[in-house]
Amino acid sequence: MLNYHYKLVKTFMKTFTEKSFSIPALKGLSEKSIAEHLKLYAGYVKNSNLILEKIAELSTDSEKNSYLLGELQRRFGFEFDGMRNHEYYFSSFEGGAKALQADSKLKSAIESEWGSFDAWLNRFKAIALTRGVGWAILYYDPKTDQLLNAWVDEQHLGHLTGLQPVLTLDVWEHSFVFDYQPSGKKAYVEDFFTNLNWSVIEANFIEASSR
Ligand SMILES: [Fe+2]
Repeated sequence: MLNYHYKLVKTFMKTFTEKSFSIPALKGLSEKSIAEHLKLYAGYVKNSNLILEKIAELSTDSEKNSYLLGELQRRFGFEFDGMRNHEYYFSSFEGGAKALQADSKLKSAIESEWGSFDAWLNRFKAIALTRGVGWAILYYDPKTDQLLNAWVDEQHLGHLTGLQPVLTLDVWEHSFVFDYQPSGKKAYVEDFFTNLNWSVIEANFIEASSR
């Protein structure tokens, strides 16, 4: 009966699919570095699926497996957020570098929140240089119709509930040490903004704010 329950759950379980990204030549970041980084992304997709499968399997005896289930559930946020953070990150390079348009709705929203685009940019870059591994993220809050910056430790610690990511910047060392020195985070952050396709970020904002 328990085995049947597991098979039934597994049959209806959705799995996450690894996305492919069309990333052009980038300033500062080599093709090899991006290829290696994409392998890490693939690991987050694989482990998100694996954890859900293991949870379904072990849930056939929740009492006996409570400790294992608790730990797997705790780690799910790390794998899932690692997957999603990277999907926003890699897609922001697709199509090549494009500036934010002067009549952009996102630009207006940033200006009304921080006074000027540069004020926001300086704040965001400073967040990205936070000591430790994690992410700088610009979110849109549909409840208050505002943009918010955040620092996320690792992949999952510090996400803002119910908010939609608009821009994610990976500042784990694996994202830049292949091409920059470990002390080269600042140059990597600068190059990230040179490489960014703002039309992708604008589309993220439009999608988030029109829900
Ligand atoms: Fe990464």
